[in-house]
Amino acid sequence: MNSKQLHVACIMDGNGRWARKRGLPRTAGHTAGEESLADIVRAASKREVSYLTVFGFSTENWVRPRAEVRHILGLHKKLFGRISELNENNVRVNWIGRPFDEPGSRTPLYVQRAIRKAIEDTKQNSGMVLTVAFDYGSRSELTRAAKMLVASNSELTPANLQNFLYDASLPPVDVLVRTSGESRISNFLLWQINAAKIYFTERPWPDFDAVDLDAAIALTKN
Ligand code: FPP
Repeated sequence: MNSKQLHVACIMDGNGRWARKRGLPRTAGHTAGEESLADIVRAASKREVSYLTVFGFSTENWVRPRAEVRHILGLHKKLFGRISELNENNVRVNWIGRPFDEPGSRTPLYVQRAIRKAIEDTKQNSGMVLTVAFDYGSRSELTRAAKMLVASNSELTPANLQNFLYDASLPPVDVLVRTSGESRISNFLLWQINAAKIYFTERPWPDFDAVDLDAAIALTKN
Protein backbone atom coordinates (compact mmCIF):
# COMPACT_ATOMS: atom_id res chain seq x y z
CA MET A 1 0.00 0.00 0.00
CA ASN A 2 1.20 3.51 -0.79
CA SER A 3 1.35 5.06 2.69
CA LYS A 4 1.21 8.56 1.16
CA GLN A 5 -2.42 7.94 0.28
CA LEU A 6 -3.58 6.57 3.63
CA HIS A 7 -7.29 7.27 4.00
CA VAL A 8 -8.91 7.13 7.45
CA ALA A 9 -12.69 7.54 7.79
CA CYS A 10 -14.55 8.06 11.09
CA ILE A 11 -18.10 7.52 12.25
CA MET A 12 -18.00 9.75 15.32
CA ASP A 13 -20.51 8.03 17.55
CA GLY A 14 -21.31 8.30 21.25
CA ASN A 15 -21.43 12.03 21.93
CA GLY A 16 -24.85 11.67 23.54
CA ARG A 17 -23.82 8.76 25.77
CA TRP A 18 -20.62 10.55 26.78
CA ALA A 19 -22.72 13.50 27.96
CA ARG A 20 -25.37 11.38 29.69
CA LYS A 21 -22.69 9.61 31.71
CA ARG A 22 -21.60 12.99 33.04
CA GLY A 23 -25.12 14.27 33.69
CA LEU A 24 -24.75 16.81 30.87
CA PRO A 25 -27.13 17.65 28.01
CA ARG A 26 -26.54 15.84 24.70
CA THR A 27 -25.43 19.13 23.16
CA ALA A 28 -22.44 19.22 25.55
CA GLY A 29 -21.43 15.84 24.13
CA HIS A 30 -21.48 17.23 20.60
CA THR A 31 -19.45 20.26 21.72
CA ALA A 32 -16.85 17.89 23.20
CA GLY A 33 -17.05 15.85 19.98
CA GLU A 34 -16.15 18.88 17.87
CA GLU A 35 -13.14 19.55 20.11
CA SER A 36 -12.08 15.93 19.84
CA LEU A 37 -12.35 16.18 16.06
CA ALA A 38 -10.15 19.29 16.01
CA ASP A 39 -7.53 17.35 18.04
CA ILE A 40 -7.75 14.33 15.72
CA VAL A 41 -7.39 16.55 12.62
CA ARG A 42 -4.19 17.98 14.12
CA ALA A 43 -2.90 14.52 15.11
CA ALA A 44 -3.76 12.93 11.75
CA SER A 45 -2.15 15.76 9.80
CA LYS A 46 1.12 15.06 11.65
CA ARG A 47 0.98 11.35 10.78
CA GLU A 48 0.99 9.65 7.39
CA VAL A 49 -2.73 10.25 6.88
CA SER A 50 -3.42 11.88 3.50
CA TYR A 51 -7.20 11.79 3.73
CA LEU A 52 -9.39 12.02 6.82
CA THR A 53 -13.11 11.73 6.12
CA VAL A 54 -15.62 12.23 8.94
CA PHE A 55 -19.38 11.72 9.19
CA GLY A 56 -20.49 15.11 10.47
CA PHE A 57 -24.20 14.97 9.69
CA SER A 58 -26.20 12.33 7.89
CA THR A 59 -29.29 12.60 5.71
CA GLU A 60 -31.03 10.76 8.58
CA ASN A 61 -29.92 13.23 11.28
CA TRP A 62 -32.47 15.95 10.32
CA VAL A 63 -35.18 14.17 12.35
CA ARG A 64 -33.36 14.79 15.65
CA PRO A 65 -34.87 17.42 17.97
CA ARG A 66 -34.61 20.89 16.42
CA ALA A 67 -32.44 22.31 19.18
CA GLU A 68 -29.96 19.44 18.80
CA VAL A 69 -29.85 19.84 15.00
CA ARG A 70 -29.27 23.59 15.42
CA HIS A 71 -26.45 22.88 17.88
CA ILE A 72 -24.74 20.36 15.59
CA LEU A 73 -25.03 22.77 12.64
CA GLY A 74 -23.46 25.49 14.78
CA LEU A 75 -20.59 23.14 15.56
CA HIS A 76 -20.03 22.63 11.84
CA LYS A 77 -19.79 26.39 11.47
CA LYS A 78 -17.26 26.37 14.32
CA LEU A 79 -15.20 23.58 12.75
CA PHE A 80 -15.23 25.18 9.29
CA GLY A 81 -14.26 28.45 10.97
CA ARG A 82 -10.99 27.03 12.34
CA ILE A 83 -9.23 28.36 9.25
CA SER A 84 -5.97 29.54 10.87
CA GLU A 85 -5.56 26.23 12.70
CA LEU A 86 -6.27 24.28 9.50
CA ASN A 87 -3.79 26.42 7.58
CA GLU A 88 -1.14 26.01 10.29
CA ASN A 89 -1.50 22.25 9.84
CA ASN A 90 -1.54 22.49 6.02
CA VAL A 91 -5.01 20.85 5.93
CA ARG A 92 -7.27 21.29 2.90
CA VAL A 93 -11.00 21.23 3.62
CA ASN A 94 -13.36 19.28 1.40
CA TRP A 95 -17.05 18.36 1.67
CA ILE A 96 -19.29 15.57 0.43
CA GLY A 97 -23.06 15.47 0.69
CA ARG A 98 -26.29 16.24 -1.07
CA PRO A 99 -25.68 19.18 -3.44
CA PHE A 100 -27.15 22.42 -2.07
CA ASP A 101 -29.12 23.07 -5.26
CA GLU A 102 -30.74 19.63 -5.30
CA PRO A 103 -34.51 19.63 -4.65
CA GLY A 104 -35.07 18.78 -0.99
CA SER A 105 -31.68 20.09 0.16
CA ARG A 106 -32.08 21.39 3.70
CA THR A 107 -28.64 22.82 4.39
CA PRO A 108 -29.11 26.35 5.73
CA LEU A 109 -27.30 29.17 3.95
CA TYR A 110 -24.99 29.89 6.88
CA VAL A 111 -23.67 26.32 6.80
CA GLN A 112 -23.32 26.43 3.00
CA ARG A 113 -21.32 29.65 3.34
CA ALA A 114 -19.11 28.21 6.10
CA ILE A 115 -18.36 25.15 3.96
CA ARG A 116 -17.61 27.22 0.85
CA LYS A 117 -15.39 29.64 2.79
CA ALA A 118 -13.39 26.86 4.46
CA ILE A 119 -12.82 25.16 1.10
CA GLU A 120 -11.76 28.45 -0.50
CA ASP A 121 -9.54 29.58 2.40
CA THR A 122 -7.65 26.26 2.64
CA LYS A 123 -7.43 25.35 -1.05
CA GLN A 124 -3.73 26.30 -1.19
CA ASN A 125 -2.80 23.68 1.42
CA SER A 126 -0.89 20.65 0.19
CA GLY A 127 -1.14 18.39 3.24
CA MET A 128 -3.97 16.22 4.52
CA VAL A 129 -7.42 16.53 2.97
CA LEU A 130 -10.17 16.76 5.59
CA THR A 131 -13.49 15.76 4.05
CA VAL A 132 -16.58 16.46 6.11
CA ALA A 133 -19.65 14.47 5.12
CA PHE A 134 -22.56 16.83 5.77
CA ASP A 135 -26.14 15.96 4.76
CA TYR A 136 -24.51 12.78 3.50
CA GLY A 137 -25.96 9.36 2.89
CA SER A 138 -24.25 6.69 0.85
CA ARG A 139 -27.39 5.35 -0.79
CA SER A 140 -28.34 8.84 -1.99
CA GLU A 141 -24.80 9.27 -3.32
CA LEU A 142 -24.89 5.96 -5.20
CA THR A 143 -28.43 6.44 -6.53
CA ARG A 144 -27.50 9.87 -7.85
CA ALA A 145 -24.30 8.50 -9.40
CA ALA A 146 -26.23 5.69 -11.09
CA LYS A 147 -28.79 8.15 -12.49
CA MET A 148 -26.05 10.41 -13.82
CA LEU A 149 -24.22 7.46 -15.34
CA VAL A 150 -27.38 6.31 -17.15
CA ALA A 151 -28.03 9.87 -18.38
CA SER A 152 -24.45 10.08 -19.70
CA ASN A 153 -24.96 6.94 -21.81
CA SER A 154 -21.60 5.62 -20.57
CA GLU A 155 -21.01 1.94 -20.07
CA LEU A 156 -21.99 0.69 -16.61
CA THR A 157 -18.62 -0.12 -15.06
CA PRO A 158 -17.26 0.46 -11.56
CA ALA A 159 -14.78 3.05 -12.87
CA ASN A 160 -17.52 4.98 -14.68
CA LEU A 161 -19.84 4.91 -11.65
CA GLN A 162 -16.99 6.16 -9.46
CA ASN A 163 -16.76 9.25 -11.72
CA PHE A 164 -20.21 10.35 -10.60
CA LEU A 165 -19.71 10.07 -6.84
CA TYR A 166 -19.89 13.32 -4.84
CA ASP A 167 -16.08 13.42 -4.93
CA ALA A 168 -14.65 11.05 -7.52
CA SER A 169 -11.11 11.87 -6.42
CA LEU A 170 -11.49 10.44 -2.90
CA PRO A 171 -9.27 7.35 -2.74
CA PRO A 172 -10.53 4.08 -1.26
CA VAL A 173 -10.77 4.09 2.55
CA ASP A 174 -7.98 2.12 4.26
CA VAL A 175 -9.51 2.04 7.71
CA LEU A 176 -12.98 2.92 8.92
CA VAL A 177 -13.27 3.86 12.60
CA ARG A 178 -16.52 3.60 14.53
CA THR A 179 -16.55 4.65 18.15
CA SER A 180 -18.80 3.92 21.11
CA GLY A 181 -19.28 0.20 20.77
CA GLU A 182 -21.56 0.21 17.73
CA SER A 183 -20.53 -2.21 15.02
CA ARG A 184 -22.59 -0.87 12.13
CA ILE A 185 -21.76 1.09 9.00
CA SER A 186 -24.88 3.33 8.98
CA ASN A 187 -24.94 4.30 5.30
CA PHE A 188 -21.43 5.80 5.31
CA LEU A 189 -19.10 5.54 2.29
CA LEU A 190 -20.49 2.15 1.21
CA TRP A 191 -18.65 2.31 -2.12
CA GLN A 192 -15.38 3.70 -0.75
CA ILE A 193 -14.98 1.17 2.12
CA ASN A 194 -14.99 -1.78 -0.27
CA ALA A 195 -11.58 -3.05 0.94
CA ALA A 196 -11.25 -1.13 4.23
CA LYS A 197 -10.18 -2.52 7.58
CA ILE A 198 -12.68 -1.67 10.30
CA TYR A 199 -11.66 -0.39 13.72
CA PHE A 200 -14.42 -0.61 16.30
CA THR A 201 -13.77 0.80 19.74
CA GLU A 202 -15.86 1.06 22.90
CA ARG A 203 -14.62 4.60 23.53
CA PRO A 204 -17.11 7.35 22.73
CA TRP A 205 -16.00 9.94 20.16
CA PRO A 206 -15.21 12.74 22.68
CA ASP A 207 -12.62 10.39 24.27
CA PHE A 208 -11.12 9.18 20.97
CA ASP A 209 -7.50 10.36 20.92
CA ALA A 210 -4.20 10.05 19.06
CA VAL A 211 -3.46 6.69 20.74
CA ASP A 212 -6.71 5.30 19.29
CA LEU A 213 -5.88 6.85 15.93
CA ASP A 214 -2.52 5.06 15.94
CA ALA A 215 -4.25 1.76 16.78
CA ALA A 216 -6.62 2.25 13.84
CA ILE A 217 -3.74 3.12 11.49
CA ALA A 218 -1.83 0.04 12.73
CA LEU A 219 -4.67 -2.14 11.38
CA THR A 220 -3.74 -1.05 7.86
CA LYS A 221 -0.21 -2.44 8.25
CA ASN A 222 -1.19 -6.08 8.40
C1 FPP B 1 -22.98 10.86 17.15
O1 FPP B 1 -23.29 11.07 18.48
C2 FPP B 1 -22.50 12.00 16.41
C3 FPP B 1 -23.22 12.72 15.49
C4 FPP B 1 -24.67 12.73 15.33
C5 FPP B 1 -22.52 13.55 14.52
C6 FPP B 1 -22.16 14.89 15.05
C7 FPP B 1 -20.73 14.95 15.35
C8 FPP B 1 -20.20 15.95 16.02
C9 FPP B 1 -21.02 17.08 16.51
C10 FPP B 1 -18.76 15.97 16.28
C11 FPP B 1 -18.16 17.17 15.63
C12 FPP B 1 -18.15 17.05 14.20
C13 FPP B 1 -18.30 18.08 13.31
C14 FPP B 1 -18.12 17.79 11.86
C15 FPP B 1 -18.57 19.46 13.72
P1 FPP B 1 -24.71 10.58 18.95
O2 FPP B 1 -25.54 11.78 19.24
O3 FPP B 1 -25.29 9.64 17.96
O4 FPP B 1 -24.34 9.82 20.27
P2 FPP B 1 -25.20 8.70 21.00
O5 FPP B 1 -25.29 7.56 20.03
O6 FPP B 1 -24.38 8.38 22.21
O7 FPP B 1 -26.53 9.30 21.31
